[in-house]
Amino acid sequence: MSIHDNIIETFTEMTPNYEEIVNNELIRFWGISYKEFIRILLHITSIPDNANILDIATGTGQIPLTIKKSSNNGYRIHGLDITYSMLQEANQNLNSNKSQEPTKLTCASAMEMPYTNASFDLVFCGLATHHMKVSSLLSEIYRILNTGGKLSIADVGSTPVWNLPGVKLLIRTLAFGYYAYNEGPKRAWAEASSVSNVRSANEWLDLLVNYKFKKISIKKLKSRYFWIPSPIIIQAEK
Ligand SMILES: C[S@@+](CC[C@H](N)C(=O)[O-])C[C@H]1O[C@@H](n2cnc3c(N)ncnc32)[C@H](O)[C@@H]1O
Repeated sequence: MSIHDNIIETFTEMTPNYEEIVNNELIRFWGISYKEFIRILLHITSIPDNANILDIATGTGQIPLTIKKSSNNGYRIHGLDITYSMLQEANQNLNSNKSQEPTKLTCASAMEMPYTNASFDLVFCGLATHHMKVSSLLSEIYRILNTGGKLSIADVGSTPVWNLPGVKLLIRTLAFGYYAYNEGPKRAWAEASSVSNVRSANEWLDLLVNYKFKKISIKKLKSRYFWIPSPIIIQAEK
């Protein structure tokens, strides 16, 4: 099975318990709940009035849902994810209130998004870049953002130690063992394969500069233990 198919199968299996699983993992590793994590991301991100917003890898739609619940200054919100069952859950969470503007949900890969150039003012991506080829993701985000449009990405970050010989192999092995024991072989493979996509703040900075993003800001939050990789929030403008 390819990594791509394994990601879809992993998240299809996780869908019914996704929020509970993520909440438990964030509390265990980072000492914050899933709700708190989204609250921090949205607190740091300023959303312009009437913005056309895209949440990449929206999962069960918790980022759009929190935006919708907190304010509605004329936003139009779209969600994209590669796993259909996650989007079915997102649809229930986001579109059951018929009096609200519906959130448009699209099943597609973030490596090749079915949107025209310059169509969004703000793009989010939470807890997902480690499953992706980040260079393709950034090139796609740049393409679909309007000039002056912003990206706000939150994910796990690495440290320079990860680039020492043998360290990534060790982390991959530990990740595989941890997830195989707690979640099963599919998730174990998905998380172990994602280790090479996890980047440090400086690596993100270099990539964003390469892709011509401006006004780059990268915030590192604290994880619960010093040896657990910390969350980072990356923001930039086209
Ligand atoms: C850990 S979940 C994060 C969901 C949501 N953003 C959140 O904050 O809870 C990762 C999501 O990324 C999606 N995903 C993984 N690779 C993807 C890709 N290439 N394109 C689009 N979605 C992808 C998965 O299907 C899954 O829903």
